[in-house]
Amino acid sequence: MNLADLNKIARAMVAPGKGILAADESSGTIKKRFDVIGVESTETSRRDYREMMFSSKQAMSEYISGVILYDETIWQNAADGTPLVRLIEQAGGIPGIKVDEGTQQLPNCPGELITIGLDKLAERLAKYYKQGARFAKWRAVIDIGAGIPSYTAVRTNAHALARYAALCQQAQIVPIVEPEVLMDGDHDIDRCTEVTEFVLKETFQELYYQKVALEGMILKPNMAVAGKKSANKAGVQEVAEKTVKLLKACVPSAVPGIAFLSGGQSDEEATAHLDAMNKIGGLPWGLTFSYGRALQAAPQKAWSGKAENIAAGQAAFTHRARMNSLASKGEWTA
Ligand code: 13P
Repeated sequence: MNLADLNKIARAMVAPGKGILAADESSGTIKKRFDVIGVESTETSRRDYREMMFSSKQAMSEYISGVILYDETIWQNAADGTPLVRLIEQAGGIPGIKVDEGTQQLPNCPGELITIGLDKLAERLAKYYKQGARFAKWRAVIDIGAGIPSYTAVRTNAHALARYAALCQQAQIVPIVEPEVLMDGDHDIDRCTEVTEFVLKETFQELYYQKVALEGMILKPNMAVAGKKSANKAGVQEVAEKTVKLLKACVPSAVPGIAFLSGGQSDEEATAHLDAMNKIGGLPWGLTFSYGRALQAAPQKAWSGKAENIAAGQAAFTHRARMNSLASKGEWTA
C-alpha cells in the first residue's frame, strides 16, 4: 500500500468546495427512482441518465470531486462510445465504485441486516482499479426501533466495514466507510445521536483491529437527525451542533474527510445542515457531501427521460451541486 497516494486521493475527494456524487444506485434502486418520473429502467435509459449527469461540465468540474458508480455503469460507454469513466476523468473527477453486494437478514437478529460482498472482493477490486476506480464504497445499514440495534448487528457490520476497508487499501483504493443509521423511525434526535455514537465508536475500533490507515479513508456517516416519523423534528442549528459534537467525539483527526449521505432529507435540508456545520468551523477534517437523492431528485424530475430535457436536467444538477459546494464552505444562504 502507498499511503501517501491514498491520502492524496482522499484529500482530493473532500477538497474545499467539492463533494461526491453518489450515483451508485443498484438496478433495483434506480428502477424505483425512474418509476417516480415515469421512465422505464433499461440498460440504455440508465446509461442516458448517467451520461447526462457526468457530461454536466460546470457541475462536474467545479463542484464534484468524484462519482460513486454501480458495477453496470463502470463498464458502460456514452452514446458516442466514450467510456463513462473517461467523462468523469475528463472533467477532473475521480471515479469510484460501490463494492458491497447489498444486505441480508442477520441470523439471530430479527429485523436487522448485514451487508455482504467480502468473498472475492480482492479480485473484484483489482478489476475495478484497472478500469479506473480510485475509491470504493461499502454501506452498512443500522435501523433504530424497539430493542434494536443489537450489539451483534452493530459489531458485525463494523467488522465487515473494516475488512472491506483493509482490502481496499491493499488494492490501492480509498475506502469510503459508510455506516448508515437510518432515519426511518419515530425516534428523536437524541436517540439517533446515541446510536450513531455507538456505531461510530465500534466502527473505528474495528478499523483499528484491521490495521486500516485512517489517513487513507473517508467516512460517510448520517447526520444526527430525528426519525422521519418523529413528532419532535430538530431544527437546523440543533442538527448541526449535535452532529459536530458527535463527530468530534468519535472521528480521529487523522481521517482526511467526512462526506455525509443525505438519507432521505429534503434537498434543501441536506444543504442547510451541511452549511450550518461548516459555519461552526474549527473542524479537524473536511466536511462535505456524498449525496445521492439530495443531488439527483431535481435533475431526474427535470429530465424525465426525454432527450429534449437534457439541458434542463443538467441545469437542475448544477444548481444543487453549486448549493452544496457553497454549503461545504459554510457560504450558502437560503
Ligand atoms: P442518499 O444521499 O440518497 O442517502 O444516498 C447516498 C448513498 O450513497 C447511500 O448509500
